Amino acid sequence: MWGTRRGASGVEMDMTEMIQPTGSGVGAFVNGIDLADSLSDNMVGELRNALGEHGVLFFRDQNISPEAHMTFAEKFAPINVNRFIAHVDGYPKITQVLKEPGQKKNIGGGWHTDHTYDTEPAMGSILLARETPKHGGDTMYASTCRAYETLSDSFRKTLDGLKATHSSRHVFGPQARYVQKGEDTAGRLGNNEAATQDSVHPLVITHPISGKKSIYVNPGFTTGIEGWNDAEAEPFLKILYDHIAKPEHTYRFQWAPGSIAFWDNRATWHYAVNDYHGERRLMHRITIEGEALAA
Ligand code: SIN
Repeated sequence: MWGTRRGASGVEMDMTEMIQPTGSGVGAFVNGIDLADSLSDNMVGELRNALGEHGVLFFRDQNISPEAHMTFAEKFAPINVNRFIAHVDGYPKITQVLKEPGQKKNIGGGWHTDHTYDTEPAMGSILLARETPKHGGDTMYASTCRAYETLSDSFRKTLDGLKATHSSRHVFGPQARYVQKGEDTAGRLGNNEAATQDSVHPLVITHPISGKKSIYVNPGFTTGIEGWNDAEAEPFLKILYDHIAKPEHTYRFQWAPGSIAFWDNRATWHYAVNDYHGERRLMHRITIEGEALAA
């Protein structure tokens, strides 16, 4: 299925050799590719399939310009402009994920899947490291597809037909914890009045690319299970959350300037580890549009 590609040495490479699974529960490295190059439609198709298969693709040493970052993203889908997080100066389509040495709160510091509060949730994000701390600042990923596969058949049957509710309000709205507690987010998070999104999605979705089943709830944005009261939904969701976060479903990615992670929101969770107080971490994130999701 993979074609061939000319590597840095000018030698034709077998594309299957370029994909190296992490060997952990999620993700694969893509080697021998320069994302600043113009990629053929065939190559984009192969990367899309690899993303569906592995949930997140990691690239090293991609010191690309913001323009090249956008060109790469647009090969997959139109760019989704973030409503709540500040953008890079001069580039409204690129979200700036920043923590300064004097700040304590980071962005994305808990397990979540982006945009589940939207009725057509974003497909994924392409996060590029610009400045990284000397130690720490890793991002963890978890496979919601692998987590589904490792449930017992009987438990999986209890998930059939369930729908979960999601919202942006408690995370980004005026009542959000960071707003109420006056956390140090000035200039990074804002536009609280725009946090009005609520959605309902099947609790288990069929992944639009791989056709695998994926558990589509997350601790960040899921607010309940349709038709259940909180006393019923909360312990049930906790069982799923504890299961998805098991080490055997996860991988912890260590960044360096020029590293890229391209993740699929329909197949993964992620968690930005906040263990580098006193140092600067600057990431450029482009999010791309997705589609309505089905069971
Ligand atoms: C995010 O949640 O998009 C931020 C991830 C990160 O900074 O590692």
